[in-house]
Amino acid sequence: MKVLGIETSCDETAVGIVEDGQILHANTVVSQIDIHATYGGVVPEVAARSHIEAMTPVLETALNTAFPTLANKTALEKLSDIDAIAVTYGAGLGGSLLIGVMTARSLALSSNKPLYAINHVEGHVYANFLTKTFLDGYKLPTEAPKFPVLALIVSGGHTQLVLFHDHFKYEVLGKTQDDAIGEAFDKVAKMTGLPYPGGPSISKEAEFGDSHACHFPKARLEGPYDFSFSGLKTAVLRSAQQMVGADHTLSSLELPSRLTTGQKRNIVASFQRVAIETVVDKTINAFEYYTPSSVVIAGGVASSQELRKQLAERLPINPIYTDPKLCTDNGAMIATLGCFKAMSGATAADPYSLEINPNLKM
Ligand code: KG4
Ligand code: ZN
Repeated sequence: MKVLGIETSCDETAVGIVEDGQILHANTVVSQIDIHATYGGVVPEVAARSHIEAMTPVLETALNTAFPTLANKTALEKLSDIDAIAVTYGAGLGGSLLIGVMTARSLALSSNKPLYAINHVEGHVYANFLTKTFLDGYKLPTEAPKFPVLALIVSGGHTQLVLFHDHFKYEVLGKTQDDAIGEAFDKVAKMTGLPYPGGPSISKEAEFGDSHACHFPKARLEGPYDFSFSGLKTAVLRSAQQMVGADHTLSSLELPSRLTTGQKRNIVASFQRVAIETVVDKTINAFEYYTPSSVVIAGGVASSQELRKQLAERLPINPIYTDPKLCTDNGAMIATLGCFKAMSGATAADPYSLEINPNLKM
């Protein structure tokens, strides 16, 4: 069962090709990070237009990577080796999702293959099921997760703990009540003058800082597995304002030029420690209560070395995580979940009418 997966929910135009939900044949991602970095975040209209430009070349590259011997054939001819198409239909930016869904609908119709509609957040978890590849430069888990699986999903748009009893049978244990953890990384990076996306730039800079220099609070919430990051973000702002001798009226835009390099490093190191500790605390609590067979981390923030380290230190089993190229948005995770849907005999979507759902929840 070979599935081609298309992902365009935010600022990555991505196509992946996966066999049987475990073998990675292609993972082509064109990131728009450079375009959006000049604005300090993703601009939806720009993202949608960039997806239109990138979609066809990304599709062709993925197909050529998976089927190198068919390089001279047309895309439609190469598609004959694919059994199904999978596409992210939500959650995400409307204009961006539309490009992926329209492309997938056209491909499914023209090649007469079944089409599977995939939830982006659920897709992130499935990146961890890929254990084999012919591609260079991928460090994949040696074993696939075993059910019940506790999944910590941490990205730019989502922060949630989900317990999977089996494929497609899951319960959301808790989620963020305000900002996502990746969003907090991006905002703190902006306050300290570090480039977008904030996660990778904060983790680099944090290595040079004292992670106990600033005392930031952890949010206390009613739901035992719920999260909140807006208080932490405000605490970082107040602490930075205080360091430069200003009060709360100083705009955060003034901070990068007034903080010293040492102060910035201490702020981001302390922020990173507390933000990661927050999600690790709840994952450990959920692990102890539900005693799952596997714990996986998924989403862009799952590439954080600090998260991987803290979890490995505190969990009695080895947490499962995958190559950073499969943690951030990609088409392979969508193709993987597509494989499991196809293999389970799930109902395919109607290629004439599948619509996007920007607010789709798990
Ligand atoms: O999953 P993703 O590519 O997009 C969404 O679905 O949101 O996640 C992107 C997020 C960004 O907020 C980025 O700052 C964060 O993942 N991120 C990281 C790291 N690498 C990416 N956060 C912390 N540490 C990292 N190493
Ligand atoms: Zn994502």
